[in-house]
Amino acid sequence: MSAVRTENNSITADRRKLKIVVVGHVDHGKSTLIGRIFFDTDSMPEGKIEAIRKASEAEGMPFEYAFLLDALLEEQEQNITIDTTQIPFRTAKREYVIIDAPGHKEFLKNMITGAASADAAVLLIAASEGVREQSRRHGYLLKLLGVRQVVVAVNKMDLVGYDEATFRRVVAEYREFLEKIGLAAERFVPISAREGDNIAARATETMPWYDGPTMLETLDAFDSSVDADDLPLRLPIQDVYRFDARRILVGRIETGVLRVGDSLVFQPGDRRSTVAQFERWHGPDRDFAVAGESVALTLTEQIFAERGQIATTARAGMPPRTGMGFSASLFWMGPGDLSVGERVRLKLATQEVTARVARVERLLDASTLETQEVRSHLARNDVAEVLIETERPIAFDLHDEVPTLGRFVLVHQRRVAGGGIITGVRTDDAARTASTPGSSSARNLVAVDSRVTFEERARRNGHRGGVLWLTGLSGSGKSTIAATVHRALFDAGWQVTLLDGDNLRHGLCADLGFSPEDRAENIRRAAQVARLFAESGLVVLTALISPYRSDRAAARDVLQQGGIDFFEVFVDAPLEVCEERDPKGLYRRARAGEIREFTGISSPYEPPVAPDIVLPTARQSVEESARALIDEIESQLRFQK
Ligand code: ADX
Repeated sequence: MSAVRTENNSITADRRKLKIVVVGHVDHGKSTLIGRIFFDTDSMPEGKIEAIRKASEAEGMPFEYAFLLDALLEEQEQNITIDTTQIPFRTAKREYVIIDAPGHKEFLKNMITGAASADAAVLLIAASEGVREQSRRHGYLLKLLGVRQVVVAVNKMDLVGYDEATFRRVVAEYREFLEKIGLAAERFVPISAREGDNIAARATETMPWYDGPTMLETLDAFDSSVDADDLPLRLPIQDVYRFDARRILVGRIETGVLRVGDSLVFQPGDRRSTVAQFERWHGPDRDFAVAGESVALTLTEQIFAERGQIATTARAGMPPRTGMGFSASLFWMGPGDLSVGERVRLKLATQEVTARVARVERLLDASTLETQEVRSHLARNDVAEVLIETERPIAFDLHDEVPTLGRFVLVHQRRVAGGGIITGVRTDDAARTASTPGSSSARNLVAVDSRVTFEERARRNGHRGGVLWLTGLSGSGKSTIAATVHRALFDAGWQVTLLDGDNLRHGLCADLGFSPEDRAENIRRAAQVARLFAESGLVVLTALISPYRSDRAAARDVLQQGGIDFFEVFVDAPLEVCEERDPKGLYRRARAGEIREFTGISSPYEPPVAPDIVLPTARQSVEESARALIDEIESQLRFQK
């Protein structure tokens, strides 16, 4: 038990619930098993069972335990506030929820989205029918989804005369399959859900040859997700609310423990701040929160935080990874095929990005486990090892390390059509990270101290170095304003320089195009160069479209990490205005389809959320914009002796 749990036991009660899924071939008895579990654990509402029994009699039908589940689901459906896929029951030891309703149309989807990630699974195989294709596919899915606690219930033992040899045969066959996929299910229980054998009570009369635990005893022996506290903090940001001047960040803690005063890192973007306090609308007044709880908090310093980012404690030993994709095991459920290279939406925790399967490394039949020949599309029920590329950096974990952040789904034609787990980082990302200062393999490099300090330069120049990052659509006026300010500051005796996108792209960035990846690299290089100049005491004006928020956030980080002032300047002109101006005739050509991925036309521009300076160039002249910028520079960077 961790310290947090002993301090306040009551808060974890809810999280001690064990979440289970019941899977298996359609006819192998899921509803009956669940009905029987309700019955044996007294989980049905008072009088309900009698009512169902009577109704069955009246219709001349034999009573079925499966009816209990139907009745419960029906009741839940009328009460829309209850998630129909969550069915609760309890044993003497603890509470459970079954997180998927058998027969529920979207069963696979529910299972895969891991929206309610399962702690354990019951896999049903009917003794009378043996291991079926679906039994294997579901076993594979459990493995794929990282459900490690599995009990195989060999059901309908009554139909095979409670024959031990039949049970052993099913066990032997299925165990071999599970071993092949690397899922160790040591627990096989022979049951009859209909007769109630080995569910809550031992079937000493019908199956005296079995001396293992019952179904419920097996479930009671599983671990619950309470272990999530012991993992490093992962708080995916759901929303950021503004109240007066305050910004309140809201999210649900997936793993770990969060305390007031913790210094947090937000990824992607690598923004840092400290938890000032929790805002409590209800619930106990504590200065910490644990996995499974939703929190609303404020930070000591305002940083740019947005939905999708993942907060983690700076001291956590295992930070989330960030990158433009990852390797994954992917299950594709369709209904349509997914072509390699086709764009889909990828959802991971609260992040949502455009992504594509860039490569299929291996293709398997989930049922036979046979390797199939790799093709350029995934079809329904394919399981594949793939490389996924995202259009923007995302934060994630390897599934082995932090399961909840190592799971994702793909949305195709507006529905969840695939899901999987993250098995590795992209090797090119690994290479890129390795060349960034501060990352693992760059740690062997020791920065050489300069004998001339930043302050000495500032003293001599009369101003500090700094970066004014002009972002905006093509034709918004970035280059013109930057050139005007450049001239004026130079004339006034300032040390100043200009980095213009068009110019950089002729030299330093001549190898780059306009894909999201290339733009990210373009911005990365520009930011690094800006940093070198600013460290040398210059005021750096940059004029790059820099359309992606994450790239600009990364640029800000590069500079702020170097202790350089960074100002995001939004050169704000509506697309119609820029297109009307069309100084280089590029919009016309983009509209004519001659230029691909043109910002504003066929490639996105993400406006700044909280820019430091806004220059509305549709409403003010170049001189006015330049003046505003110069005023800002004067007030922010002039050196106070
Ligand atoms: S950025 O997106 O990576 O920041 P950058 O500012 O360097 O772009 O370059 C933009 C300039 O490249 C534009 O001013 C325009 O002259 C030219 N250009 C050529 N193709 C494109 C395109 N597809 N999208 C945007 N700009 C383009």
